[in-house]
Amino acid sequence: MKIIGSYPKTRLRRLRKQKWLRNLISENNISPNDLILPIFVREGKNKIESIKTMPGVKRYSVDKLPSILKKVKSLKIPMVALFPYTPNNKKNKQGSEALNPNNLICRSLRLIKNRFPDIGVMCDVALDPYTSHGHDGLLVNNEIDNDETIKILVKQAILQAKYGCDVIAPSDMMDGRIGLIRKALDKEKFTDVSILSYAVKYASSFYGPFRDAVGSKSKLKKDKKTYQMDYRNSLDSFREVGFDLIEGADMVMVKPGMIYLDIISKIKENFKIPVIAYQVSGEYGAIKFAIKNKVLNEESIIESLMAFKRAGACAIVTYFAIEIAKKIKASN
Ligand code: PBG
Repeated sequence: MKIIGSYPKTRLRRLRKQKWLRNLISENNISPNDLILPIFVREGKNKIESIKTMPGVKRYSVDKLPSILKKVKSLKIPMVALFPYTPNNKKNKQGSEALNPNNLICRSLRLIKNRFPDIGVMCDVALDPYTSHGHDGLLVNNEIDNDETIKILVKQAILQAKYGCDVIAPSDMMDGRIGLIRKALDKEKFTDVSILSYAVKYASSFYGPFRDAVGSKSKLKKDKKTYQMDYRNSLDSFREVGFDLIEGADMVMVKPGMIYLDIISKIKENFKIPVIAYQVSGEYGAIKFAIKNKVLNEESIIESLMAFKRAGACAIVTYFAIEIAKKIKASN
């Protein structure tokens, strides 16, 4: 690229002088349309509880979901992502609670689709909130068995679609699951249910607080490095995305977010498809605790979200969704 212009005829500070001017030439902006709010659901009645490692984030019993969904609706956040906090006595080696039509996710879906039909709902397809070992798949001879796992994931996806899930989001990182899930959805006439594949998901330490939030942390003995991606690499991400698109994915997720902006940018540039970024629990926690301790200020949040837009993400899954949507509303 040839650089055009030079000092003193050209002064780059000229376009930064006034706020209105900076607004005028801004290339990226955040609106509530860009936000997806993750929500943790728990058993019981009339319960809203805090999560120690994620200040400001709560777990809701199903009957209490309307309290947060009303905010989502009034702030015009288009979609929520549901995650269950499964009680220990419902976890087992096979994660069979994932297929219970009365599990937390299915009950939440029925409530949301009944009372808030205009809010989009996305659901994770993976077994980790349900297994006694905390892994996303089935353990056979102490290894995660890819093909046996997919058989269950397909059933989990169909169940979620049946109760109104709009966006099926496989986050398990098994090979070949998108194709089989798409085939099963189509066979059951769920042709309009879309698939957001967590195509690029790294084995990351930044998921720590989330594993606390869904109660899988203390269960997990080993890391997830035999199925989630190696953070030394980026090449894998092209084949992960390419395969998933061929298998029928409509959108792809890159996760974690902030420390993988290079990947977001490459995927967007090369595939020209909707890329969604997940600002994961550890990224949220790092910023939140830094603000709490006055190491960072509040503007760091919007700065972190803008980075995703600049990199090419069309939307961001973030625990800051409500907070930021409120700020945007107040500034309008
Ligand atoms: C589970 C899942 C994880 C997250 C979303 N879905 C954790 C993991 O893979 O261990 C992490 C989200 C976050 O950290 O905010 N398949």
